[in-house]
Amino acid sequence: MLSVEIAHIGQYLTEYSRLATALDKAGAAPAPGEVEFLTETTARDWRGIGMLPPAEVLFAAAVTSILAPPSAIELGTASGFSTAIIAKIMALREAERGAPGKSPLLHTIDKCADFPPDPTKPIGFAIDLVAPELRERIVLHPLHDSSFCQELPSNGELRFAFIDGNHRHPWPLVDVLRIQARMAGGWILLHDIDLPATIARAQAEGRAGDLQPASGAKHVFDFWPDAKISAGNIGLVRVPSDRRSLGTLITPLRDFPAEVSAGSATKRWREIDRLRL
Ligand SMILES: C[S@@+](CC[C@H](N)C(=O)[O-])C[C@H]1O[C@@H](n2cnc3c(N)ncnc32)[C@H](O)[C@@H]1O
Repeated sequence: MLSVEIAHIGQYLTEYSRLATALDKAGAAPAPGEVEFLTETTARDWRGIGMLPPAEVLFAAAVTSILAPPSAIELGTASGFSTAIIAKIMALREAERGAPGKSPLLHTIDKCADFPPDPTKPIGFAIDLVAPELRERIVLHPLHDSSFCQELPSNGELRFAFIDGNHRHPWPLVDVLRIQARMAGGWILLHDIDLPATIARAQAEGRAGDLQPASGAKHVFDFWPDAKISAGNIGLVRVPSDRRSLGTLITPLRDFPAEVSAGSATKRWREIDRLRL
């Protein structure tokens, strides 16, 4: 499996090029303004707002830039930090094509209406801090989970999604199955694919906070039956052309202990069985 970690902006162009080749887009280059935007964004201190460290921002941005999707879905808005980064990279590509659009770039779903770490703020508040000009191009869907993606308008062309919701097993499996069902193909970016080890490292350095070592996204990534690229705690998986292969993802994940309550696990597995391919 390919691993592409972009530790800092100084590595962006070389690692971008490696990633582009892996995504069958050899020769792709960042859009005008992209490196400047990322240089500024990764230099700022987003403590308390951004949940992606700079290396993960750079990977998410490079993937979005290379795949250049016209529209996308995100699950797990929180402050809207990742929402704004992804939408900004999409908008820069759109501007490069000379076709600035009016339709939504990104639909983002969150089960909460308020930012969990600070409920005095609404989810998505950081969009105004990162990319205020895109506020009208991003649609927030608070108080929903991934089942809501069925309600979103689709022209059958959705080819990019970011999943960063509940990481407790088996939620990420439910989310990825529901979201891929809306996709024509393409790639899904998954956050926290190495959360237990990331938290253990943070604990060893005395900066763990109250993070819970959930393994749901890790299980999905580890057992994904198609192409994948890892970048530490964030990774990219390709939607298989034969969706029946996703059955081989579900079977081994049954053996891992649920990280949600017994009642919630029963509901989640019932939904997985309903979605079973
Ligand atoms: C880790 S945060 C997302 C961080 C954000 N993507 C970023 O990088 O800025 C996870 C978010 O997922 C939401 N969430 C948790 N469980 C969910 C579920 N089952 N469906 C939808 N959203 C969920 C939480 O309310 C929280 O805002």
